[in-house]
Amino acid sequence: MGIIIGIIEHRVFKGYILKLKIKNIICGFTLLIPFRNIFLSPSKLIKRLKLKDNHTVLEIGPGPGYFSPKVAKFLTQGKLVLTDIQQEMLDLARKRLDKRGIKNVKYKLCDGMSLEFDSKSFDRIFMVTVLGEVENKDIYLSEIHRILKDDGILSISELAGSR
Ligand SMILES: C[S@@+](CC[C@H](N)C(=O)[O-])C[C@H]1O[C@@H](n2cnc3c(N)ncnc32)[C@H](O)[C@@H]1O
Repeated sequence: MGIIIGIIEHRVFKGYILKLKIKNIICGFTLLIPFRNIFLSPSKLIKRLKLKDNHTVLEIGPGPGYFSPKVAKFLTQGKLVLTDIQQEMLDLARKRLDKRGIKNVKYKLCDGMSLEFDSKSFDRIFMVTVLGEVENKDIYLSEIHRILKDDGILSISELAGSR
């Protein structure tokens, strides 16, 4: 009996992991569709951020990195940091950036509640379709405020209808 339950539990667990992997692959794929440019293109985002080439920029929740390559390439003397709660997404983004030979990027897994960076360390912070997924928005926004420089800019983009 114990063995049978063990096998079922093992199968359910494996099935759950497989489901998560498939969800991430589909999610990663749909987030990289160029059609997205109609709503917000990486170039439009760069303009919105008033980016300078020496800025230190944090992208929260990059997913598979749709926006990251263009932003990182713009930062010829600066750097881009990607932080996400999913290691799989950071791996996908890294693959995309490595493929393009982009080197000025750092990757950091986060817990979705705190942002383990020094105070006032970023010139720009942006998040695209992420805030709607954040559980405690007030705490997160005060963390963002803490790590953003006084003259920094935070850009939050959400789809219409998101909470
Ligand atoms: C809908 S995807 C958007 C990905 C990307 N910004 C884009 O627009 O293509 C949301 C991403 O935010 C991440 N995420 C959700 N909550 C987060 C949090 N509290 N901190 C950091 N990343 C988070 C998810 O893991 C996922 O990669």
